[in-house]
Amino acid sequence: MRDNFKSSFGVLVAMAGSAIGLGNLWRFPYLMGTNGGAAFIIIYLVLVFLLCLPIMMSEFVVGRRSQVNAFRAFKVLSPKGHWGIIGMLGVLAAISLIAFYCVVGGWTIDYLVHSVTFSLPEEGATEGFFSAAVSTPGRTLMYTYIFLIVTALVLLAGIKDGIERYTKVMMPVLFLTIIAIAVRSVTLPGAGAGLEFLFKPDFSKVTADTFLNALGQAFFSLSIGCATILTYGSYVKKNEKIVKMSSLTAISDTFFAIIAGLAIMPAVFAFGISPSEGPGLLFVVLPDIFDQIAGGGIIAILFFFVLFIAAVTSSISLLEVCVTFLIEECRLRRRTAVLLSSGVCLVLCTLCALSGSVLSDVHVLGRTFFDFFDMISANFLMPFCGLLVVIFVGWKMKREAFVDEISNGGTLPNTKLYNVIFYLVRYVAPIVIAVIMVFGWMKQI
Ligand code: PHE
Repeated sequence: MRDNFKSSFGVLVAMAGSAIGLGNLWRFPYLMGTNGGAAFIIIYLVLVFLLCLPIMMSEFVVGRRSQVNAFRAFKVLSPKGHWGIIGMLGVLAAISLIAFYCVVGGWTIDYLVHSVTFSLPEEGATEGFFSAAVSTPGRTLMYTYIFLIVTALVLLAGIKDGIERYTKVMMPVLFLTIIAIAVRSVTLPGAGAGLEFLFKPDFSKVTADTFLNALGQAFFSLSIGCATILTYGSYVKKNEKIVKMSSLTAISDTFFAIIAGLAIMPAVFAFGISPSEGPGLLFVVLPDIFDQIAGGGIIAILFFFVLFIAAVTSSISLLEVCVTFLIEECRLRRRTAVLLSSGVCLVLCTLCALSGSVLSDVHVLGRTFFDFFDMISANFLMPFCGLLVVIFVGWKMKREAFVDEISNGGTLPNTKLYNVIFYLVRYVAPIVIAVIMVFGWMKQI
């Protein structure tokens, strides 16, 4: 018998737990910083709600209708043809995401350890501290491995006891600490320039690149395009409401991203840090803010702890894609499947973790392993997989089947809305993704 999520709240928490993570707090602020601020945010918001939310619902529909892993799901729904490839692509995307996600997860543990021992850097020393953290091979590797091991341990406990119980506790704490940080950040002297950066769009800097980066970030943050929502959906009971769950997930995820922007950007300007600092942005700015808050030392501990938990609830959803696949397709026991997939990830994580030190000169497509896996998953594999999902749902699966699943067998009344969603999936989504990918890639290669 397949495991299932017990309650609606459990599903929602697991989905939001997957979506809310380093993508909101680490990746969103730095990408927004390198892509021009407010204009990026606007493009991002439009893409999330018009494009990615319907894609999320599509993945959910495929998962719940088939009740199997990503690869088999497409075969069950359409036995003829090679649609299973979409699922494989999702699994591949999930693996390449874990490769660098664990490294950043490792940084959060590193910072947590330093906050517990009250040895975070002081103002002015934060950049040096961060570059030491990423360029000391033993240190990065150790924390990366710890992060991966924690992820694997949670998954060993299985769906109900692992993911569901674990995820429920941390959201409110994460929310409160990030709000506290945002309040301090916007009240720092000199924060005004940061607020302007966040809210005053300058469209003259927008290029095809900006769109591709916003699209990649939307996929990354909502956990779509890598079979995660599909896999979670396959564990969801038939009476749960797909539209409601997906919308709540997207809304809470976006809310966290915006608050993270508010927490980081004003401080970036107040401390004279460059907004286009890159992947280190969050880790360079935060210690400076904690320095400025009464009781900042304690808030730092709390913050890095919940950030770490948020990252784990995302990484378990990624690894679970591979684990479910191995259990069902290779008939492995859960334990063996977890060990095998973590073993593969360990090798890839090692490459990414050493990108800041011994492997810094090794480049794939002109990028270090860390940047390569980040770029190939967010800007290529995920949108591409999303494109195939919407083509499958919009053109291969019948509209009746889609509406039947999303309306819980016709028991939910909103037929008009479901038709609109279907047409967004069928026409708008494929065209927009294809155009953004083609133009974005012409610029990036
Ligand atoms: N959405 C997660 C985050 O924002 C990352 C993630 C991507 C998790 C894809 C699962 C699947 O951190």
